[in-house]
Amino acid sequence: MKKQAFLTFIFILLAVHTGLHAQTKNDKILVAYFSWSGNAKALAGQIAQKTGGNLFEIKTIKPYPAVYDECTKTARRELDENARPAISGSVADMKQYETVFLCYPNWWGTMPMALFTFLESYDFSGKTIYPLVTHGGGSFGRSLDDIRKSAPKAVIGEGLSISAMSRNHEGPAVVKIPNDNVASWLRKIGM
Ligand SMILES: Cc1cc2nc3c(=O)[nH]c(=O)nc-3n(C[C@H](O)[C@H](O)[C@H](O)COP(=O)(O)O)c2cc1C
Repeated sequence: MKKQAFLTFIFILLAVHTGLHAQTKNDKILVAYFSWSGNAKALAGQIAQKTGGNLFEIKTIKPYPAVYDECTKTARRELDENARPAISGSVADMKQYETVFLCYPNWWGTMPMALFTFLESYDFSGKTIYPLVTHGGGSFGRSLDDIRKSAPKAVIGEGLSISAMSRNHEGPAVVKIPNDNVASWLRKIGM
């Protein structure tokens, strides 16, 4: 009887410890994303779901035009001006995160300028950033270099590039993010 009570006690102790550990681990993962037509958002959703990370949308205060051509013009102008579009909201207690997944579309060969605003707004020392790009053929472009420059204190982990062109430029994204790619990449980086 005593032995059984002891074993039950050990079991409860282990369960509580595992639960607490999982909680702590999840709390340290941030999944920050910017998305115009939904692809990077879908990718971020998968990462958050698989890692238990907290989602944060990098959203500009001034929205981008809903029409594709207009959006590309605005984005081009921002790039040429090296703009830092203002972002609405901020990450609550950034200090708690050790791992930051950064999901964004390739815009004009790099990340949208709002990503520069985001990265320059926080201290990333002691954090690892995993970049994830969705693109229409240009993969990461110059974005990895730009992330390094914008968050010089961060460790930049291996990234994931997903080809995800919107079939209908004006509607919501139609590309499904391949689940297997995401799962095997997460395994590869030890998540
Ligand atoms: C403003 C703008 C610029 C883009 N520039 C590029 C580019 O230079 N290279 C590329 O491969 N794809 C480019 N694309 C395509 C997007 O990267 C691609 O459709 C991405 O999956 C969209 O992600 P989202 O649905 O999260 O917005 C561009 C799209 C937009 C709207």
